[in-house]
Amino acid sequence: MKISVESAVKILLQDQVVALPTETVYGLAGRIDSEKALHLIFSTKQRPFFDPLIVHVRDKVQAQELTLEWTPIAEALANAFWPGPLTLVLRKSARISDLITSGLERVGLRCPNHPLALEVLEKLGEPFAAPSANLFGRTSPTTAEHVESEFQGKVPVLDGGPCPIGIESTVVLLDQTQVAILRKGHIKAQDIESVLKSHHLEFQWKTQVSALESPGHMKHHYMPAKPLFWVEGSWKEQPLLEKLNNSLRSLPQSVEGVQLRKPTQIRSYSELVLPDHAEQAARLLYSELRRLSSLDSDCLVFFVRKNHLHEDWDAILERLRKASAAQILSS
Ligand code: TXA
Ligand code: MG
Repeated sequence: MKISVESAVKILLQDQVVALPTETVYGLAGRIDSEKALHLIFSTKQRPFFDPLIVHVRDKVQAQELTLEWTPIAEALANAFWPGPLTLVLRKSARISDLITSGLERVGLRCPNHPLALEVLEKLGEPFAAPSANLFGRTSPTTAEHVESEFQGKVPVLDGGPCPIGIESTVVLLDQTQVAILRKGHIKAQDIESVLKSHHLEFQWKTQVSALESPGHMKHHYMPAKPLFWVEGSWKEQPLLEKLNNSLRSLPQSVEGVQLRKPTQIRSYSELVLPDHAEQAARLLYSELRRLSSLDSDCLVFFVRKNHLHEDWDAILERLRKASAAQILSS
């Protein structure tokens, strides 16, 4: 069911959940002070409680109220990139429940750059938590129709058309002087570095991050309805089909609780073709994974090309690697 901003706010005030657009992907929103809504987010997505939720705020002031430590680095990054696709992971205040952070002391905060999401935040007058509006481990939605099909029309959706960025926000963990990228995205390490340098802020990149600091990072994620194979090297059709079937036979039924949805045999595949320009590719990535999964072929194949080996493609490749059931390397 598609709804208006007013209905979305009303539903949120009634402790229910709504799907809404952000500039990255559609989110499944619930009020942060409603335990009922937070539980509904987890149950609707079939998401395990160890995977923390991102809290969406209207502005910097609202974010500051939710943290114990609004550092100079957080201030500089929020000024440079909010509203926008950057999630800051900071020490949480008592207003943030353990359900949101999976018991961690830090909370992920972001101010989304989408007029409808901002309007909801404005009219609601308080923050909402919102993971991507898809079943756990599956492809994120970038249109209202994706959300409707994901939850079979059971979740009300605020339709804002296709999401302009198309992949989830960059997630950064901030200490007083250390910055770690937990999830790559549209905003890159060098964008962050140049902002911090221009403010003469001392910082080091932290590359060793413990699983405890970065939960929710499963081996498989973003998985389409049919298995996707990551293929390196150049292959003729027959040898590739053989290789795909060999690989299929050795795959388990599920990994870390995410079903691989294996066909009995692979007779044909659909190739995931993306534009050369990384930003255009990101915008199309998830809708193409969904579209190709609805075709008659038995699986999807992504051929990794030379032009993908560029840092602009890192965030997309990170997702495609996790979305893949297996990798076929050059012979
Ligand atoms: O673009 C986005 O970030 C979208 C839109 C809807 O805003 N949201 C999104 O949420 O991608 P979700 O739940 O699908 O991914 C959130 C991920 C978690 O799996 C985890 O890896 C990281 O963000 N995260 C959230 N809170 C964290 C925390 N307190 N500490 C460490 N990582 C956290
Ligand atoms: Mg997600």
